[in-house]
Amino acid sequence: QKEPKHFTIGFSQCSSDDWRNVMLQEMNRELAYHPNTRLLYRQANGNTALQIAQVQDLLKSGIDLLIISPNEAVPLTAVVAEAFKKKLPVIVVDRKIDAPYYTAYVGGDNYEVGRMAGEYAAHLLKGKGDILELTGLPRSSPAIERHKGFADALKAYPQMHIQKQINGEWLKEKAQEKLIKTIGTETRPTLVFAHNDRMAMATYEAYREKGLPVPHIIGVDGLPGVNAGMDLVAKKAITATMMYPTGGEKAIRTAMDILQKRNYSKQSLISTTVIDSTNVRYMQLQTETTLSQQKAIERQQGMLANLKAIYNNQRTFVYILALS
Ligand code: FRU
Repeated sequence: QKEPKHFTIGFSQCSSDDWRNVMLQEMNRELAYHPNTRLLYRQANGNTALQIAQVQDLLKSGIDLLIISPNEAVPLTAVVAEAFKKKLPVIVVDRKIDAPYYTAYVGGDNYEVGRMAGEYAAHLLKGKGDILELTGLPRSSPAIERHKGFADALKAYPQMHIQKQINGEWLKEKAQEKLIKTIGTETRPTLVFAHNDRMAMATYEAYREKGLPVPHIIGVDGLPGVNAGMDLVAKKAITATMMYPTGGEKAIRTAMDILQKRNYSKQSLISTTVIDSTNVRYMQLQTETTLSQQKAIERQQGMLANLKAIYNNQRTFVYILALS
C-alpha cells in the first residue's frame, strides 16, 4: 500500500515498566507497516508535572497526532484539552483524562476488570470474606474504575467487605513497604485485590517475609514472562489475574485511520478475561504461539527490507552503466 504522506505521532507515556514496554513493542510492530510515519516518544517516569511539560514540548514539535496515557486524570486534562481545541487529533490510551477533549479512547475496560474481579472474589469466598484492596494511584482513571467495578460487584454480597484500602501507587516497592506495616496487625483479610500484578507480587512477598499464611490474591495485567501475572498464577503465588491488554496495536491502527481520514471508533474497549489455575497453561501456550508468529513476521519484514535494498542498489548500478 502506498503511503506518500509523512506523519509524526507524538506519544506521551506516563511511566516505564514491563506492561508499558509491551505497549510500545505493539505500537512499533504496527508502525513497521507505515515506514513514513515517525513516533516521537516521551516517558514521564510516573511524574505528572514532567508529563505535562513533555506534552507541551511534543505540541511544539509539530506533531500530527498525540497519543497519551495520562499518569493522573485531572492534572493532565488542561494540556490535552488545549491540544484538542487546536484541532490536533488526540488518542487517549489506557488511562483517561477528566473531560471529553479527545478524538478516541483505546484501552481495556477498567470498570469491567474491577467488576469481574469482584464476581470472582465472591465465588471464591462463597459470598463471605474480608478484603484488602491495594489500589493504583487514586487520581488515575484505572484505579478509580477498577475500584468502582469491584465495589459494585460486591453490592450483591452483603457479607463481603472491603476492610481496608492501601494506595500502592501502581508500584511494587511502594505496595510492599506499606503492606509490611499493615498486615498481620488489625488487617487480616481473606483476600487481597491488587490493582496490578506487580502489587499482587508485593503482597505475596510481604506475607512470606512476615511468615504469615498467604491469603487469596487477585491481580490485574496477566503478562507473560518470569514473575509476571501468568507466571505468578502458574506458580500459585496468586490465585488469579485479570488480563488487561495494552491496546498498543489498536492505538496505532486508530491513529492511522484518523490521519488517513478513514472511519474510526471513538471508543475501542478491549475486553478482559480471568486467568486462574484452570486456564493459565492454555493462556501461556497461546501467548507463546503468538509471540513466535510475531517473530516470524519480523524476520520476513527484515528479509523484505534487505531485498528492497539490494534491488535499489542494482537499479542504481544499472542506471550508472546506462550512463557510461
Ligand atoms: C503499568 C500499569 C499497569 C496497570 C496500568 C493501569 O504502568 O501500572 O500495571 O494495569 O498501568 O494504568
